[in-house]
Formats: sequence, C-alpha cells, structure tokens
Amino acid sequence: MTLSNKKILVGISGGIAAYKIPELIRNLRKAGAEVRVTTTRHALEFVTELTLQTVSGARVYSDVFAAINEHATEHISLPDWCDAMIVAPATANVLGKMAAGIADDALTTTFASCAARKPIVVAPAMNDKMWENPATQKAVAELRRWPNIRVLEPAEGELACGVVGKGRMPEADILQEAVAAALTTKTMSGRRVLITAGGTTEPIDPVRCISNHSTGKMGFALAHECARRGAEVTLIAGAVTAQLHNPEIHRIDVGTAREMHRACMDAWPTHDTAILCAAVADFAPEAAEQKIKKQPGQTELLLPLHITPDIARSMGETKRADQRLIGFALETNHEEANALRKMENKHLDAIVLNSLREAGAGFGHDTNCVTVLTADGRSASLPLASKAEIASGILDTLI
Ligand code: PMT
Repeated sequence: MTLSNKKILVGISGGIAAYKIPELIRNLRKAGAEVRVTTTRHALEFVTELTLQTVSGARVYSDVFAAINEHATEHISLPDWCDAMIVAPATANVLGKMAAGIADDALTTTFASCAARKPIVVAPAMNDKMWENPATQKAVAELRRWPNIRVLEPAEGELACGVVGKGRMPEADILQEAVAAALTTKTMSGRRVLITAGGTTEPIDPVRCISNHSTGKMGFALAHECARRGAEVTLIAGAVTAQLHNPEIHRIDVGTAREMHRACMDAWPTHDTAILCAAVADFAPEAAEQKIKKQPGQTELLLPLHITPDIARSMGETKRADQRLIGFALETNHEEANALRKMENKHLDAIVLNSLREAGAGFGHDTNCVTVLTADGRSASLPLASKAEIASGILDTLI
C-alpha cells in the first residue's frame, strides 16, 4: 500500500525487539511516508540514536529536557504533525504507563497527547511471563477499549531469552500493514468477504502437476484492502508466492480446483461478498498413484483431462439476494465479449477483466490494469497501477 504524504510517528520503548524498528522505518519511508521517531531513554540501549536518525532522516526525540529540542514542546508538536502513531515495541512498563495516563518521558508524554486524537497502533513485545502478568493484561484490555487504539497480538515463537512462547513483536511487514489499516476509513466494517487467490495445482502423479502462472498478488492485494477497510476476510489460497501481512485474515490453503470448490462452497453461506481472483484449472488429469515412467522408445504421453467444477458458477447458482459475487476474467482475445459471457453464465454481479495483451497486466506483475464490468451495464477502466491501487479502485467501484 502506498503511504504517500502520510506522516508517521514511531515510538520505541526499551525491549530487544527495538532492533527491528530501523527496518520498519525504512519500509515506511519506501512506501512514501515521512517518519519521526520518539523513544524512551532505555530504547537507546537497544538501538542507537544515530541509526534511528539516519534511517528516519530526522532528529530523534528522546529527552524531554534536551537543550537541542527545537522548542520545548515536541510532545505536543509531534502528535499535531503526525497522521498516525505506532508504539513498537511496547514493553510491559510502557503499556502500563500508557493505560494509566502516566507521562514521564519523551515517548509517554508524546503518546499522552496523541492518545485522544490520532490513530495509534501498539505492538507489545516481551517475555511470555511478563505478557501473562495480570497487570500487563489489564493495561492491554484498557487500551483496547480506546476507540482509536489498536493493540496487536504478540506472535508466538522463540523469545530473546531462548524459550518458546507468546510475546514476540510481529515482523516489520505486519506492523506496516497495521499502520496502513489505521489510516484507512472503515467503509466495509460489518462485511464478510470471501476472496480466492493464486493458481490451483492438479497432480498428474506424485511428482508432477499442471498449474498456471498466478502468484496470488492480485488476490492478496484485495484481501489486504478489504481488511484495511474493516471487513472480515476469508482468503482461500491456491499456489502463491505472495505474502500475507495481516494475521487477522483467515487463510485457508488448498491445492486442486476440487479442493478450492469445496472450501468456497463451505464458506460461501457465511459471507456477503465473494471476489474470485484465483486462476482455477478448467481441466485436470486423473492423478496416477505412482510416478509415471518413461518407456523405452516412447515419444509421447497422452493424458485424458476431465472438466473441473466451476466454482464461480456453483456459487452463482446458490447466491442469495443479499450476496454479491464478483469474478475475474483473464483473456487473450475478444476480451470484453468473453468477460460479459462469463459474467452471465456464472451469474456474477460484476467481472474484473484483465488482458494478457496489456503490458504490465495479469500474472506475476506488481501492476495490473483492468476494466470492471457490472451486470447492470456499468463499465469502469482502471489504468495501469500497482495491484494495491487496483484493488482499492475495484472496491471503490463495486463496494
Ligand atoms: O495472481 P497474480 O499473479 O497476481 O495474477 C492475477 C490474475 C491474472 C490471476 C487475476 O487477475 C485473474 O485474472 N484471475 C482470474 C484468472 C482466471 O482463471 O480467469 P478465467 O477467465 O479463466 O475465469 C473466470 C472466473 O471464473 C474467475 O473468477 C475464476 O476464478 C472463475 N473460475 C474459473 C474456472 C473454474 N473452474 N472455476 C472458477 O470459479
């Protein structure tokens, strides 16, 4: 997601996970954001002021009384300046102070004057025993009651002390996605959206398969954008290389078209919208139980292929009046006519047409260019842009 012209205030407290924050700052800036940093004194034991200053391109605000401060009120001017704040890592100590309204250093005074006015993401990180401490849990529960604050769940895994448990700070990509979500208006809250992405994989035998070039980038971009807008998202993914940056998206991995069909039909009744972006095999072989061996003198292998279930059509046939079904069409010729025919045959409310004849569109690219066609005769063209921007444009047009 682009964060062009967004102003992000990063607050760092004194935990070992602070060493990951320079990566977050770099990524936020690469996405177009301007970044300022405030820290506790102890945070600078884990990551140096010089590093933070270099990666953010700005002076770090870590000491309320430093003579170098431009004016003595950075804790007021930084919250006024920013569009959103992220506190990461948030130690048990800082969580407790933030929830109790204690403001006794650069970070907590800045948070205190941001808390009522700006969207804030908080990423706790600590040892699992400190996370389980009732005082920490009470502070987290209190902060979660505040309307503009989102406290992320720490991840499970190996902690700095070597034990495996809950307390790891989510990785930089997840923090960045949470910041993007905090900046997005919740126009889809209450909606439940089912999205398919990636290519299906049809086995020929235990070592070979038929698949296609889908990477899942377009479907994942749609899933991220729906979640940013507040929807509950179920993502049914075939073979993909795309990465998911939001652990709250419910992901179901499948292999074949038949498996994707089953997963979609199970999930469809509890969703109000489905966007079918997956590249589903139309034909599949009967998989051999053992590896097919090349015989001496053999020059060809003929594989009978059977038609796979048409997921979109099955969903279209069982669609309720309160549900909307959106398909994709990937075409190489007679694009619009083919897309319109698919929309009608599959009982879709809209179809998003992309053509392999357009440079930068379709499989694999980070970009796409599409035409959105609706069953009531509307049409909207979205010119070449990142798949994140195209996802946003599709939702603006249809939802
Ligand atoms: O994943 P990326 O690398 O980012 O690439 C994105 C994309 C090119 C895969 C995506 O933008 C796209 O076009 N997806 C649909 C590809 C496709 O299979 O189109 P189709 O014209 O063959 O199918 C039409 C619709 O029917 C699609 O919604 C498809 O999901 C659905 N379908 C197809 C066959 C089948 N057996 N069941 C289905 O539900």
